[in-house]
Amino acid sequence: LEFLDLLAPYRRVFLIKASTAATAPTFTAVSLASQGGRMDLVVRAVISAIATPEGPRRDTAIVSVLEGPPKPPLALVALGSEIRELPLSEGELGRVIIELLSGKSVRGFATLRVSFQALVARIVEAVGKDCVVYLHELGVPAERDPGFRSAKFFILGDHLGLDRRTEDFLDGLGIRRINLGPLSYLTSHCITVVHELLDRLP
Ligand SMILES: C[S@@+](CC[C@H](N)C(=O)[O-])C[C@H]1O[C@@H](n2cnc3c(N)ncnc32)[C@H](O)[C@@H]1O
Repeated sequence: LEFLDLLAPYRRVFLIKASTAATAPTFTAVSLASQGGRMDLVVRAVISAIATPEGPRRDTAIVSVLEGPPKPPLALVALGSEIRELPLSEGELGRVIIELLSGKSVRGFATLRVSFQALVARIVEAVGKDCVVYLHELGVPAERDPGFRSAKFFILGDHLGLDRRTEDFLDGLGIRRINLGPLSYLTSHCITVVHELLDRLP
């Protein structure tokens, strides 16, 4: 199955470029941030995207493109409507990711060999650029962008933000930048804000 088919049923899809996250199980649940190359950020993003106190959000998926050693890139996909129970502890979800990177299959998760740019290019080719936005500190405020409410794909950087080349690539595709507030927020917090803004809509 192509990744676009996996993502088609979802209303919201978050795309994270995890520029340092490990692509093999070379870390443990207690070294997500260090040996894992900030896999803690990935884990928190998945929890923010999919977890609710009532269980997984069925309308949301998240793709984190891991770009750390030893064999980048590797896209880690979490599918809200397929996950039965999402671990709410970072350590526990970290263990799930370690299992995936060890080649085990886990319901609701998948790994795919695709680069961040190829992923975005394929999405824009399939659905057009207007429902894809890049969340950026200096973008147009979400409330002033008429298309924000119908956006489906939300691109986010990691602790380092997106590198210049990737930003040039997104600009070349005509993907617009959207701002969520006056400060720079954590990737996982931006996901929560997007959910909150869009959940208000009828
Ligand atoms: C921790 S921030 C990146 C840090 C920053 N770029 C730096 O100088 O290192 C992580 C990501 O969250 C998103 N983000 C953070 N603050 C935002 C805001 N106010 N509006 C929209 N997106 C934001 C961006 O996608 C950013 O790449």
